[in-house]
Amino acid sequence: MSGRTVPSRRTVLRSAVLTPVAGLGPAACSPGDDGAAPARPTAPVELGADGEVADGATKLYRDANVVVSRAGDGSLKAFSTVCTHAGCPIGKLEGTKLVCPCHGSEFDARTGEVLHAPATTPLVELPVEVKQGRIVASPGT
Ligand code: FES
Repeated sequence: MSGRTVPSRRTVLRSAVLTPVAGLGPAACSPGDDGAAPARPTAPVELGADGEVADGATKLYRDANVVVSRAGDGSLKAFSTVCTHAGCPIGKLEGTKLVCPCHGSEFDARTGEVLHAPATTPLVELPVEVKQGRIVASPGT
């Protein structure tokens, strides 16, 4: 014997299958350090004062994963900012455009519509209302 151990073909194949490749596949989409999916509200969540979102304005509530916009007539709309592509929290609002940091999907914060792939599904709309001067979003259905 030469003293050198040669891995069997089975060992080599097993290693190849079990070794993750960085940057590929769903593991690359991990939304957080702990791998947990970002939370969408599961109960009504108070976002802030009614006056924080002026007519025609859009505001991102990062901690709640919710974006709120107010139309010119004063009506409110809210959307979950959990990306519909692979579940990353979208923490970037450029004007009225939400930009996902994971793969670059873009959404219209006022309508939830996809502006740029890879996402193909609009953001989830959340019921929103003003209660005692506070903006409150509820879980979507
Ligand atoms: Fe892939 Fe948002 S999770 S673009």
